[in-house]
Amino acid sequence: MAAKKAKAPPLLRTGAKAGLRVLVLSGPNLQLLGTREPEIYGRETLADIHERLVARGKELGAQVTARQSNHEGQLCDWIGEAGGAFEGILLNGAAYTHTSLALFDALKAVGLPCVEVHISNPEAREAYRHTSRIAPACIAKVSGFGADSYVLALEGLVRWLEKKKAR
Ligand code: DQA
Repeated sequence: MAAKKAKAPPLLRTGAKAGLRVLVLSGPNLQLLGTREPEIYGRETLADIHERLVARGKELGAQVTARQSNHEGQLCDWIGEAGGAFEGILLNGAAYTHTSLALFDALKAVGLPCVEVHISNPEAREAYRHTSRIAPACIAKVSGFGADSYVLALEGLVRWLEKKKAR
């Protein structure tokens, strides 16, 4: 008799587990995606990315709310208001990633799981992009996959939240 194969855990179950709410925040200059340095950031607009995230969220049973601001304080306000309204955050802090103690403090204060997202791979770019101020307040980072980084980060966050729920 052939040995029984162990059943692999489902990578990403879809549909049933509604009730997850994910806040997606993008920082300065990301409203210019589509025309901003396309050789680095690609041709997809932020609206295109938000659309993909909402659609993928639906498949995964997660409601996605996506916002962008050029203002550090606005991003801090949204993070600060996220407790109780969202189960997790995706944050592309853009240039604030490398400078903002305020964003780090906001993430620590609210205590929600956050995934740091980048379209490019900052570690492979200029030295001043190699440091992330927000990384120590995040559960994970997805970078370098172009606009797909956002979608991969959403999949990872949903999986992380589901695993946490099952514990
Ligand atoms: C970025 C990388 C940052 O270094 C840069 O300042 C950005 C975009 C990215 O998504 O690749 O604005 O966060």
